[in-house]
Amino acid sequence: MKILVLNGSPRKDSDTMILTSAFLEGLKDNDIEIINIIEKDIKPCVGCFSCLKRDEIKCAIDDYQNEILDKIIDSDVIIYSFPLYFYSVPSHLKASWDRLLPLTKWELIKTGDRYDHVLKCDLSKKKFIIISGCGLPDFEDNFKALKIMCKNTFYYPICIFARETPILHNPNANPITAPFINKFREAGIEFSKTLDLKEETIEELEKPMLCSDIYMEIVNKIHG
Ligand SMILES: Cc1cc2nc3c(=O)[nH]c(=O)nc-3n(C[C@H](O)[C@H](O)[C@H](O)COP(=O)(O)O)c2cc1C
Repeated sequence: MKILVLNGSPRKDSDTMILTSAFLEGLKDNDIEIINIIEKDIKPCVGCFSCLKRDEIKCAIDDYQNEILDKIIDSDVIIYSFPLYFYSVPSHLKASWDRLLPLTKWELIKTGDRYDHVLKCDLSKKKFIIISGCGLPDFEDNFKALKIMCKNTFYYPICIFARETPILHNPNANPITAPFINKFREAGIEFSKTLDLKEETIEELEKPMLCSDIYMEIVNKIHG
């Protein structure tokens, strides 16, 4: 199985990649490629719409995004790993998401109550996984916009929204973070066997490591 990991954290020691790397341990017998989006030349979409007119899956801007499109087409599993930035995606990754438009045609289609552009290729057999970390204590709306965005962009991907990820780099928090990281390792094994994750598994991965008020107290003690 070909697994493409698109890392959207701009940081060398990404909190989110700690979890994604643990998830990948469960998939280590596969062909895994990790790309750090921040290191690549991916310009913003200019809205020319020329990609919708041509049959080829190619953007008119000839930079690294065309390689990403080729790699997505060539992969069985695509994992996006990135931090939550202002309830959304970091801007360099958003540039890459906007430029997924060459995967589609002008033509529209209605499926259920949803209207969308017709795809140029069959993505239905591919598995898209979103792993996103965040720094604020848990609250309902923090990941709400991202959840809708991911669902509409990647047609119901597996989403794992992890809370309180900055503490993953705190060695004092090891008794709490080590079992949490291990849950991602086990989830990777589950995915390798079933190509899916049970709802209960995702629920476990999305549970905050610490109660929100204690997390806030710790953050304020360190940085306040
Ligand atoms: C510009 C910026 C915006 C952020 N916005 C949010 C946010 O909306 N909600 C949140 O909980 N954390 C937010 N964070 C915190 C990061 O999501 C958090 O620190 C995360 O662990 C970083 O992960 P990484 O090391 O993988 O990049 C933001 C951080 C930055 C730098």
